[in-house]
Amino acid sequence: MMQTPHQSLWVKQDDPRTIEIIDQRSLPHEVVIEELNTLEDVATALREMHVRGAPLIGVAAAYGMYLAACHVTKDQSFQATMEKAALTLKATRPTAVNLQRAVDRQRVQIQETHSRERGRQRLFEEAQRIREEDIEICRKIGEHGVSLIHAIARKKKKTVNVLTHCNAGWLACIDWGTATSSIYQAFEQGVDLHVWVNETRPRVQGASLTAWELSQRRIPHTVIVDNASGHLMRQGRVDLIMVGTDRTTATGDVANKIGTYLIALSAQDNNVPFYVALPSTSIDWTLRNGFDIPIEERAMDEVTQAEGFLDGERKCVQLTPEGTPAANYAFDVTPHRLISGFITERGIAPGCEEGLLQLFPERKAAPHDG
Ligand code: MRU
Repeated sequence: MMQTPHQSLWVKQDDPRTIEIIDQRSLPHEVVIEELNTLEDVATALREMHVRGAPLIGVAAAYGMYLAACHVTKDQSFQATMEKAALTLKATRPTAVNLQRAVDRQRVQIQETHSRERGRQRLFEEAQRIREEDIEICRKIGEHGVSLIHAIARKKKKTVNVLTHCNAGWLACIDWGTATSSIYQAFEQGVDLHVWVNETRPRVQGASLTAWELSQRRIPHTVIVDNASGHLMRQGRVDLIMVGTDRTTATGDVANKIGTYLIALSAQDNNVPFYVALPSTSIDWTLRNGFDIPIEERAMDEVTQAEGFLDGERKCVQLTPEGTPAANYAFDVTPHRLISGFITERGIAPGCEEGLLQLFPERKAAPHDG
Protein backbone atom coordinates (compact mmCIF):
# COMPACT_ATOMS: atom_id res chain seq x y z
CA MET A 1 0.00 0.00 0.00
CA MET A 2 1.24 3.49 -0.84
CA GLN A 3 2.41 5.49 2.17
CA THR A 4 0.80 8.89 2.68
CA PRO A 5 3.28 11.40 1.26
CA HIS A 6 4.52 14.19 3.52
CA GLN A 7 5.49 16.58 0.77
CA SER A 8 3.21 18.17 -1.79
CA LEU A 9 5.28 17.89 -5.00
CA TRP A 10 8.34 15.89 -6.08
CA VAL A 11 10.14 14.61 -9.16
CA LYS A 12 9.11 11.05 -9.96
CA GLN A 13 11.74 8.50 -9.06
CA ASP A 14 13.74 7.38 -12.12
CA ASP A 15 11.70 9.65 -14.40
CA PRO A 16 12.92 13.26 -14.25
CA ARG A 17 10.42 14.33 -16.92
CA THR A 18 7.47 13.59 -14.65
CA ILE A 19 6.47 15.71 -11.65
CA GLU A 20 4.16 14.17 -9.08
CA ILE A 21 1.76 16.14 -6.90
CA ILE A 22 -0.94 15.44 -4.37
CA ASP A 23 -4.16 16.46 -6.10
CA GLN A 24 -5.49 18.56 -3.23
CA ARG A 25 -9.06 18.55 -4.53
CA SER A 26 -9.56 15.03 -3.19
CA LEU A 27 -8.36 15.70 0.35
CA PRO A 28 -9.20 14.89 3.08
CA HIS A 29 -11.13 11.94 1.67
CA GLU A 30 -8.55 10.41 -0.58
CA VAL A 31 -4.84 10.88 -1.27
CA VAL A 32 -4.62 11.04 -5.06
CA ILE A 33 -1.21 11.38 -6.71
CA GLU A 34 -1.28 13.06 -10.10
CA GLU A 35 1.49 13.03 -12.70
CA LEU A 36 2.31 16.23 -14.55
CA ASN A 37 4.18 15.81 -17.83
CA THR A 38 3.57 18.98 -19.84
CA LEU A 39 3.21 22.73 -19.49
CA GLU A 40 -0.54 22.31 -19.99
CA ASP A 41 -0.73 19.76 -17.16
CA VAL A 42 0.95 22.25 -14.81
CA ALA A 43 -1.16 25.22 -15.97
CA THR A 44 -4.36 23.20 -15.43
CA ALA A 45 -3.18 22.01 -12.00
CA LEU A 46 -2.54 25.62 -11.01
CA ARG A 47 -5.72 27.13 -12.48
CA GLU A 48 -8.01 24.42 -11.11
CA MET A 49 -6.17 24.28 -7.79
CA HIS A 50 -4.94 20.68 -7.79
CA VAL A 51 -1.99 22.53 -6.25
CA ARG A 52 -2.44 25.81 -4.40
CA GLY A 53 -0.86 27.99 -1.73
CA ALA A 54 1.62 30.69 -2.70
CA PRO A 55 4.94 28.86 -2.18
CA LEU A 56 3.73 25.67 -3.87
CA ILE A 57 2.29 27.65 -6.77
CA GLY A 58 5.78 29.11 -7.30
CA VAL A 59 7.56 25.76 -7.17
CA ALA A 60 5.02 24.13 -9.50
CA ALA A 61 5.39 26.97 -12.00
CA ALA A 62 9.19 26.56 -11.96
CA TYR A 63 8.79 22.90 -12.94
CA GLY A 64 6.16 24.00 -15.49
CA MET A 65 8.86 26.01 -17.27
CA TYR A 66 11.14 22.98 -17.24
CA LEU A 67 8.43 20.68 -18.63
CA ALA A 68 7.63 23.25 -21.33
CA ALA A 69 11.31 23.16 -22.37
CA CYS A 70 11.20 19.37 -22.56
CA HIS A 71 8.61 19.55 -25.32
CA VAL A 72 9.92 22.32 -27.59
CA THR A 73 10.16 20.79 -31.05
CA LYS A 74 12.98 21.35 -33.56
CA ASP A 75 10.85 23.61 -35.76
CA GLN A 76 9.90 25.91 -32.83
CA SER A 77 11.98 28.82 -31.58
CA PHE A 78 13.16 27.87 -28.09
CA GLN A 79 13.14 31.42 -26.75
CA ALA A 80 9.72 32.35 -28.22
CA THR A 81 8.10 29.13 -27.02
CA MET A 82 9.50 29.61 -23.54
CA GLU A 83 8.28 33.21 -23.38
CA LYS A 84 4.80 31.95 -24.27
CA ALA A 85 5.06 29.30 -21.57
CA ALA A 86 6.02 31.98 -19.03
CA LEU A 87 2.93 34.02 -19.95
CA THR A 88 0.67 30.97 -19.75
CA LEU A 89 1.91 30.11 -16.28
CA LYS A 90 1.78 33.68 -14.98
CA ALA A 91 -1.83 34.02 -16.11
CA THR A 92 -3.05 31.03 -14.09
CA ARG A 93 -3.29 32.78 -10.71
CA PRO A 94 -2.67 36.49 -10.31
CA THR A 95 -2.29 37.16 -6.58
CA ALA A 96 0.60 35.03 -5.28
CA VAL A 97 3.81 36.82 -6.22
CA ASN A 98 5.76 33.56 -5.77
CA LEU A 99 4.41 32.49 -9.15
CA GLN A 100 5.68 35.56 -11.02
CA ARG A 101 9.00 35.38 -9.19
CA ALA A 102 9.65 31.68 -9.86
CA VAL A 103 8.81 32.06 -13.56
CA ASP A 104 11.12 35.08 -13.82
CA ARG A 105 13.93 33.15 -12.15
CA GLN A 106 13.50 30.49 -14.81
CA ARG A 107 13.47 33.08 -17.61
CA VAL A 108 16.86 34.32 -16.40
CA GLN A 109 18.22 30.76 -16.64
CA ILE A 110 17.59 30.59 -20.37
CA GLN A 111 18.16 34.21 -21.38
CA GLU A 112 21.50 33.56 -22.91
CA THR A 113 21.30 29.86 -23.51
CA HIS A 114 21.57 28.79 -27.13
CA SER A 115 21.73 25.07 -26.48
CA ARG A 116 18.27 23.63 -25.79
CA GLU A 117 19.71 20.70 -23.93
CA ARG A 118 21.72 23.02 -21.68
CA GLY A 119 18.62 25.24 -21.23
CA ARG A 120 16.49 22.29 -20.13
CA GLN A 121 19.17 21.19 -17.70
CA ARG A 122 19.43 24.66 -16.19
CA LEU A 123 15.65 24.90 -15.81
CA PHE A 124 15.56 21.54 -14.05
CA GLU A 125 18.34 22.51 -11.67
CA GLU A 126 16.78 25.87 -10.87
CA ALA A 127 13.37 24.26 -10.20
CA GLN A 128 15.09 21.83 -7.81
CA ARG A 129 16.83 24.77 -6.11
CA ILE A 130 13.57 26.72 -5.71
CA ARG A 131 11.99 23.61 -4.19
CA GLU A 132 14.85 23.04 -1.75
CA GLU A 133 14.99 26.72 -0.80
CA ASP A 134 11.29 26.66 0.00
CA ILE A 135 11.73 23.75 2.41
CA GLU A 136 14.55 25.56 4.20
CA ILE A 137 12.68 28.88 4.35
CA CYS A 138 9.63 27.22 5.91
CA ARG A 139 11.73 25.29 8.42
CA LYS A 140 13.41 28.50 9.53
CA ILE A 141 10.09 30.40 9.77
CA GLY A 142 8.98 27.73 12.24
CA GLU A 143 12.24 27.93 14.16
CA HIS A 144 11.68 31.65 14.73
CA GLY A 145 7.91 31.59 15.19
CA VAL A 146 7.98 28.89 17.83
CA SER A 147 9.34 31.46 20.32
CA LEU A 148 5.98 33.29 20.18
CA ILE A 149 4.12 30.13 21.18
CA HIS A 150 6.63 29.29 23.92
CA ALA A 151 6.31 32.80 25.38
CA ILE A 152 2.52 32.45 25.68
CA ALA A 153 2.82 28.92 27.09
CA ARG A 154 5.26 30.10 29.78
CA LYS A 155 2.98 32.92 30.84
CA LYS A 156 -0.36 31.15 30.56
CA LYS A 157 0.65 27.72 31.91
CA LYS A 158 -2.39 26.29 30.15
CA THR A 159 -3.23 25.21 26.59
CA VAL A 160 -2.15 27.77 24.00
CA ASN A 161 -4.92 28.43 21.46
CA VAL A 162 -3.63 29.40 18.03
CA LEU A 163 -6.06 30.43 15.29
CA THR A 164 -5.26 30.03 11.61
CA HIS A 165 -7.08 30.73 8.36
CA CYS A 166 -7.08 28.88 5.04
CA ASN A 167 -4.19 26.44 4.62
CA ALA A 168 -0.71 27.78 5.11
CA GLY A 169 0.56 24.30 5.86
CA TRP A 170 2.95 21.93 4.07
CA LEU A 171 0.28 21.33 1.43
CA ALA A 172 0.59 25.01 0.50
CA CYS A 173 4.39 24.75 0.36
CA ILE A 174 6.61 21.72 -0.10
CA ASP A 175 7.18 20.86 3.54
CA TRP A 176 6.55 22.36 7.04
CA GLY A 177 4.19 25.13 5.82
CA THR A 178 4.58 28.76 6.79
CA ALA A 179 1.96 29.43 9.50
CA THR A 180 1.91 25.76 10.55
CA SER A 181 5.70 25.41 10.78
CA SER A 182 5.79 27.10 14.21
CA ILE A 183 2.79 25.04 15.32
CA TYR A 184 4.46 21.78 14.27
CA GLN A 185 7.74 22.68 15.94
CA ALA A 186 6.03 23.82 19.16
CA PHE A 187 3.99 20.61 19.31
CA GLU A 188 7.12 18.49 18.74
CA GLN A 189 8.79 20.41 21.58
CA GLY A 190 5.99 19.40 23.91
CA VAL A 191 3.94 22.61 24.09
CA ASP A 192 0.32 22.02 25.08
CA LEU A 193 -1.53 23.63 22.19
CA HIS A 194 -4.81 23.62 20.33
CA VAL A 195 -5.56 25.09 16.91
CA TRP A 196 -8.76 26.85 15.89
CA VAL A 197 -9.12 26.17 12.16
CA ASN A 198 -11.27 28.58 10.17
CA GLU A 199 -13.18 26.53 7.59
CA THR A 200 -12.38 29.14 4.87
CA ARG A 201 -15.31 29.30 2.49
CA PRO A 202 -15.75 28.92 -0.38
CA ARG A 203 -13.10 26.27 -1.08
CA VAL A 204 -12.79 25.19 2.57
CA GLN A 205 -9.00 24.86 2.62
CA GLY A 206 -9.13 25.12 6.43
CA ALA A 207 -11.77 22.44 7.00
CA SER A 208 -10.36 20.07 4.41
CA LEU A 209 -6.61 20.68 4.19
CA THR A 210 -5.43 22.24 7.46
CA ALA A 211 -7.65 19.92 9.49
CA TRP A 212 -6.23 16.95 7.54
CA GLU A 213 -2.64 18.03 8.15
CA LEU A 214 -3.25 18.52 11.87
CA SER A 215 -5.12 15.19 12.15
CA GLN A 216 -2.21 13.40 10.50
CA ARG A 217 0.08 14.67 13.27
CA ARG A 218 -2.51 14.25 16.02
CA ILE A 219 -2.42 17.93 16.95
CA PRO A 220 -5.58 18.97 18.85
CA HIS A 221 -7.70 21.22 16.65
CA THR A 222 -11.28 22.36 16.11
CA VAL A 223 -12.83 23.59 12.86
CA ILE A 224 -14.99 26.70 13.17
CA VAL A 225 -17.07 28.59 10.64
CA ASP A 226 -15.32 31.70 9.41
CA ASN A 227 -17.67 34.02 11.27
CA ALA A 228 -16.90 32.46 14.67
CA SER A 229 -13.40 33.82 15.23
CA GLY A 230 -14.56 37.24 16.51
CA HIS A 231 -16.82 35.54 19.03
CA LEU A 232 -13.96 33.35 20.31
CA MET A 233 -11.62 36.32 20.58
CA ARG A 234 -14.13 38.25 22.67
CA GLN A 235 -14.32 35.28 25.02
CA GLY A 236 -10.53 35.26 25.42
CA ARG A 237 -10.25 31.87 23.76
CA VAL A 238 -7.65 32.82 21.12
CA ASP A 239 -4.08 33.54 22.30
CA LEU A 240 -2.37 34.03 18.97
CA ILE A 241 -3.24 34.25 15.28
CA MET A 242 -0.89 32.96 12.61
CA VAL A 243 -1.75 33.22 8.92
CA GLY A 244 0.12 33.00 5.63
CA THR A 245 0.30 35.43 2.75
CA ASP A 246 0.18 35.38 -1.02
CA ARG A 247 1.81 38.73 -1.50
CA THR A 248 3.05 41.35 0.95
CA THR A 249 4.02 44.84 -0.17
CA ALA A 250 7.28 46.60 0.76
CA THR A 251 5.19 48.62 3.22
CA GLY A 252 3.82 45.50 4.91
CA ASP A 253 0.27 45.28 3.54
CA VAL A 254 -0.71 41.61 3.37
CA ALA A 255 -2.82 39.86 0.74
CA ASN A 256 -4.10 36.54 2.02
CA LYS A 257 -7.18 34.36 1.68
CA ILE A 258 -10.48 36.25 1.76
CA GLY A 259 -11.56 36.83 5.35
CA THR A 260 -8.08 37.52 6.73
CA TYR A 261 -8.80 41.26 7.01
CA LEU A 262 -11.88 40.67 9.19
CA ILE A 263 -9.87 38.39 11.48
CA ALA A 264 -7.20 41.10 11.83
CA LEU A 265 -9.85 43.70 12.71
CA SER A 266 -11.31 41.48 15.43
CA ALA A 267 -7.80 40.72 16.67
CA GLN A 268 -7.03 44.40 17.11
CA ASP A 269 -10.30 45.04 18.93
CA ASN A 270 -9.51 42.19 21.31
CA ASN A 271 -5.73 42.68 21.73
CA VAL A 272 -4.94 39.31 20.21
CA PRO A 273 -1.50 39.22 18.52
CA PHE A 274 -1.88 38.83 14.75
CA TYR A 275 1.23 37.42 13.02
CA VAL A 276 1.87 36.77 9.35
CA ALA A 277 4.26 33.94 8.45
CA LEU A 278 6.05 35.58 5.56
CA PRO A 279 8.62 33.83 3.38
CA SER A 280 10.78 36.40 1.55
CA THR A 281 9.53 34.82 -1.70
CA SER A 282 6.09 36.34 -0.97
CA ILE A 283 7.32 39.92 -0.57
CA ASP A 284 6.67 42.16 -3.56
CA TRP A 285 9.27 44.90 -3.12
CA THR A 286 7.90 46.75 -6.17
CA LEU A 287 4.57 47.59 -4.49
CA ARG A 288 4.03 50.15 -1.74
CA ASN A 289 0.27 49.97 -1.42
CA GLY A 290 -1.91 46.94 -0.78
CA PHE A 291 -4.57 48.34 -3.12
CA ASP A 292 -2.18 47.62 -6.01
CA ILE A 293 -2.13 43.87 -5.36
CA PRO A 294 -4.17 42.07 -8.04
CA ILE A 295 -7.02 40.19 -6.39
CA GLU A 296 -8.08 36.99 -8.07
CA GLU A 297 -11.78 36.59 -8.80
CA ARG A 298 -12.90 33.02 -9.26
CA ALA A 299 -15.98 31.28 -10.67
CA MET A 300 -19.37 32.00 -9.12
CA ASP A 301 -20.21 28.35 -8.65
CA GLU A 302 -17.54 28.02 -5.92
CA VAL A 303 -19.90 30.22 -3.86
CA THR A 304 -23.31 29.13 -5.09
CA GLN A 305 -22.50 25.44 -4.71
CA ALA A 306 -20.71 23.25 -2.17
CA GLU A 307 -18.66 20.17 -2.96
CA GLY A 308 -17.95 17.21 -0.75
CA PHE A 309 -17.66 13.43 -0.69
CA LEU A 310 -20.48 11.03 0.03
CA ASP A 311 -19.99 7.24 -0.01
CA GLY A 312 -16.60 7.70 -1.65
CA GLU A 313 -17.94 9.88 -4.45
CA ARG A 314 -17.50 13.58 -5.06
CA LYS A 315 -20.90 15.33 -4.88
CA CYS A 316 -21.91 18.86 -5.56
CA VAL A 317 -25.01 20.56 -4.14
CA GLN A 318 -26.62 23.90 -4.97
CA LEU A 319 -26.84 26.38 -2.07
CA THR A 320 -28.47 29.42 -3.62
CA PRO A 321 -31.61 29.85 -5.73
CA GLU A 322 -30.87 29.00 -9.37
CA GLY A 323 -29.73 32.13 -11.17
CA THR A 324 -28.72 34.11 -8.07
CA PRO A 325 -25.42 35.78 -8.89
CA ALA A 326 -22.40 35.59 -6.59
CA ALA A 327 -19.09 37.41 -6.29
CA ASN A 328 -16.03 35.34 -5.49
CA TYR A 329 -13.01 37.39 -4.41
CA ALA A 330 -10.32 34.90 -3.46
CA PHE A 331 -8.13 37.25 -1.41
CA ASP A 332 -8.27 40.45 0.64
CA VAL A 333 -5.62 42.85 1.86
CA THR A 334 -4.91 43.50 5.52
CA PRO A 335 -3.26 46.90 6.04
CA HIS A 336 0.00 46.77 7.97
CA ARG A 337 -1.43 48.83 10.85
CA LEU A 338 -3.37 45.71 11.91
CA ILE A 339 -0.37 43.38 11.85
CA SER A 340 1.60 42.67 15.04
CA GLY A 341 4.56 41.18 13.25
CA PHE A 342 6.07 39.18 10.40
CA ILE A 343 7.71 35.82 10.94
CA THR A 344 10.27 35.38 8.18
CA GLU A 345 13.15 33.00 7.57
CA ARG A 346 15.45 35.71 8.93
CA GLY A 347 13.56 36.31 12.16
CA ILE A 348 10.57 38.17 13.56
CA ALA A 349 9.99 41.88 12.93
CA PRO A 350 7.24 44.43 13.56
CA GLY A 351 4.49 44.43 10.89
CA CYS A 352 5.57 47.50 8.94
CA GLU A 353 8.06 48.72 6.35
CA GLU A 354 10.74 49.46 8.97
CA GLY A 355 10.30 45.95 10.35
CA LEU A 356 10.85 44.41 6.92
CA LEU A 357 13.90 46.58 6.32
CA GLN A 358 15.40 45.52 9.66
CA LEU A 359 15.36 41.96 8.39
CA PHE A 360 16.21 42.72 4.76
CA PRO A 361 18.63 45.67 5.03
CA GLU A 362 19.93 45.04 1.49
CA ARG A 363 16.57 46.39 0.28
CA LYS A 364 17.46 49.86 1.52
CA ALA A 365 19.95 50.04 -1.33
CA ALA A 366 17.63 48.59 -4.03
CA PRO A 367 14.18 49.16 -2.58
CA HIS A 368 12.03 48.55 -5.66
CA ASP A 369 13.71 45.62 -7.39
CA GLY A 370 11.34 42.70 -7.78
O1 MRU B 1 -6.38 30.04 -2.95
P1 MRU B 1 -5.27 29.34 -2.23
O2 MRU B 1 -5.69 28.08 -1.56
O3 MRU B 1 -4.05 29.17 -3.11
O4 MRU B 1 -4.88 30.38 -1.08
C1 MRU B 1 -3.87 30.05 -0.17
C2 MRU B 1 -3.70 31.07 0.89
O5 MRU B 1 -4.37 32.07 0.94
C3 MRU B 1 -2.57 30.83 1.86
O6 MRU B 1 -2.87 31.36 3.11
C4 MRU B 1 -1.33 31.54 1.32
O7 MRU B 1 -1.06 31.11 0.01
C5 MRU B 1 -0.14 31.29 2.16
S1 MRU B 1 0.40 29.61 1.95
C6 MRU B 1 1.77 29.34 2.86
